[in-house]
Parts: sequence; structure tokens; C-alpha cells
Amino acid sequence: MSVLKVKDLKSYYISEVFGIKRTVRAVDGVYMEINRDEVFGIAGESGCGKSTLIKTLLGMIKPPLTIVDGEIYYDFGDKKFNILSLNPDESRKIRWEYISYIPQSSMSVLNPVRRIRDTFKSFLGAHKKFEKDELEGLVKEHLSALGLPTEVLNAYPHQLSGGMRQRVTIALASILKPKVILADEPSTALDVVVQRGVIQLLRNIQEEQKNIIIIVTHDMGIHANICDRIAIMYAGKIIEEARTDEIFKHPLHPYTTYLIGSLPKIGDKSYRVSAPGSPPPLSNLPNGCSFHPRCPYVMEKCKKEFPSLLNVEDEHRVACFLVNKEDDNGARD
Ligand SMILES: Nc1ncnc2c1ncn2[C@@H]1O[C@H](COP(=O)(O)OP(=O)(O)OP(=O)(O)O)[C@@H](O)[C@H]1O
Ligand SMILES: [Mg+2]
Repeated sequence: MSVLKVKDLKSYYISEVFGIKRTVRAVDGVYMEINRDEVFGIAGESGCGKSTLIKTLLGMIKPPLTIVDGEIYYDFGDKKFNILSLNPDESRKIRWEYISYIPQSSMSVLNPVRRIRDTFKSFLGAHKKFEKDELEGLVKEHLSALGLPTEVLNAYPHQLSGGMRQRVTIALASILKPKVILADEPSTALDVVVQRGVIQLLRNIQEEQKNIIIIVTHDMGIHANICDRIAIMYAGKIIEEARTDEIFKHPLHPYTTYLIGSLPKIGDKSYRVSAPGSPPPLSNLPNGCSFHPRCPYVMEKCKKEFPSLLNVEDEHRVACFLVNKEDDNGARD
């Protein structure tokens, strides 16, 4: 049974400078369905809309970001809602307790002039009433369970290493055992060894708490390591989605093929080809499939129509006329 269902989500940055309206179609018709206990990865080039999608799923919508269309349904059994129709107060209540967020930069969550202890206290105090010692005990227990030293509570964020700060952010995001954790590049700024530790920490939390994790990263190695399913985003749309092993073994969209083909393989020194050219500006997308100007297999149809994301096999969906030859470009429900 799906816990999260996203339908035709369009989330644009709409601004007006000197009377000229500019629309950046950052998320442009996304469909997703995520099941209980699933780790779902989102990959794609810089600027394709990954962070905007995560922010929208969290209901963190501030101008110029505007929801133009779509629905985001969460079904937690005891609580069911379309996050886009909640008021700010309702939205605050479900955040962290039901849906939590790990941003790319831990500094945007940790207050630089507060000791970590105080950040935990104000954070938890905003959600529940605690006796004084109860709260301290809960935080220490959680940190210890995650293998983090409780001394970090006395530190200010700048006194911790980048890796430790990111672990503390993850501890904060998981302390209320949220049903969904949205992680936006949780380890990108870290070196490889520390990165591995951070990803392992996320895995341990998921095994223990059985949350859904939606993780954004450009690092396909991390996706391979942690995700059950992966969605590939290109210019604001999901263009392919499949189980992790399937997408690595049988990528179908030409863009995914480039993305996976460009990964280094141990012992193989041959030249790796990445996608030619660069992604289109989201404020001025080409007609038809947004990948067509870079696609070596482009056909006339691709220049005019956008292929819908259709099932090719069980749990493998792709938006490409090469694969979906019969696509009538009908809307997917
Ligand atoms: N506040 C804003 N106003 C206007 N455009 C914006 C704003 N924030 C982001 N954008 C644009 O929206 C598009 C998607 O941005 P987003 O941050 O979602 O991409 P991303 O896939 O997360 O990229 P990265 O991998 O670099 O983090 C980009 O073209 C970006 O320039
Ligand atoms: Mg981003």
C-alpha cells in the first residue's frame, strides 16, 4: 500500500522583474508512489529540480515558489492529508513528527550561536511537553543508539567536524521517529570515508524505525548502496523509474544510459561517455521531450510531443518514444 502519492505535481518559481514575468519550471508534472518501508532515490544533473521537489514534498513552499498544479497525498493510517492543502499551523505540526528533512547543509538546521543541547531542547519542546530530565535522557539515549558521543550536546556547531554536524542533523531529524525522512544530498559536502559513515547511519535508522527515506543525490554509488528504487529526473520531470538493480542492469532512457555508462568501473580503463551538451534552462524548455536536443536517437515525434512516463515492465517506467512506441501521449492517472 502506498504511503505517498504524488499526482501531476507542478512547482514553479514565478517572478516578475521590471514587468517581465519569468517562470522556472523546476518540477513539471511529477508522478510518484512510495510504499511503506521503502528507500527511494532521486538522481539527476544539477539544477533539474531535485531540491525543489523535496521542498514541495515537505510543504515548504515560499514565494517565488508556486504550486501550479498537482496533489501530494500522505496516508499514515491515523493521518491522511494532501500536504498542499494544509495551513501553516497544520503543516508545522506534521513536520518532524511525521515528515522530517535533512538538508544538504547542516548549518541551515543547527543554530550557530546555540549549543547542540539547546537546539535539541527547543526542537523537541516545540512538539511535546517534557519533564526537564526526561528530555535530556531521551536525547542522550537517541544519540547513543546512533553511536554518537553525548558530549556533542555541549558543543556549538562550529566546534564539530562537517561529518559530525551532519550526523547530529540526522539525529535531530530522526529523534521523533518520523514516518518519512526527506534527505537532500545528505552527504555531498563530505569526504568519501565520512560519507560512507553518514549513509550507514541513515541505513541503520531506516532498519530500526522502518521509515520511508526519499534521498536525493547525484552520487549513483550512494543510490546503489541504499535505495530500493530509483527515479531519474531530467528538466523537472521523472523520465525513468525502476528497482535499483534493474535500473543499473537495464537502463532504458538514453539519458539514464549516459548517466550509468559514465560511472567508473573497477578494472575498466575505457573512456566513459557522458551525455553531450548541457541541460536546457528550465525557464525556456524546448518543445517535445526536453532531452531531445541532446539525444542521439532523436526522432521527429520527440521534437513535438512529450512522452508520458509509462510502465514497460513490472515497476519499471520510462518516458521515451524509443521504448513506448505506442504512446499516444495520453495523461497518466
Ligand atoms: N528561488 C528561486 N528562484 C528562481 N529560480 C530558482 C530558485 N531556486 C531554484 N531555482 C531554479 O530552479 C531550478 C531547480 O533548482 P533545484 O535547486 O531544485 O535543482 P537541484 O536539482 O536540486 O540542483 P542541485 O543538484 O544543484 O542541488 C534551477 O534551474 C534553479 O536555478
Ligand atoms: Mg539541490
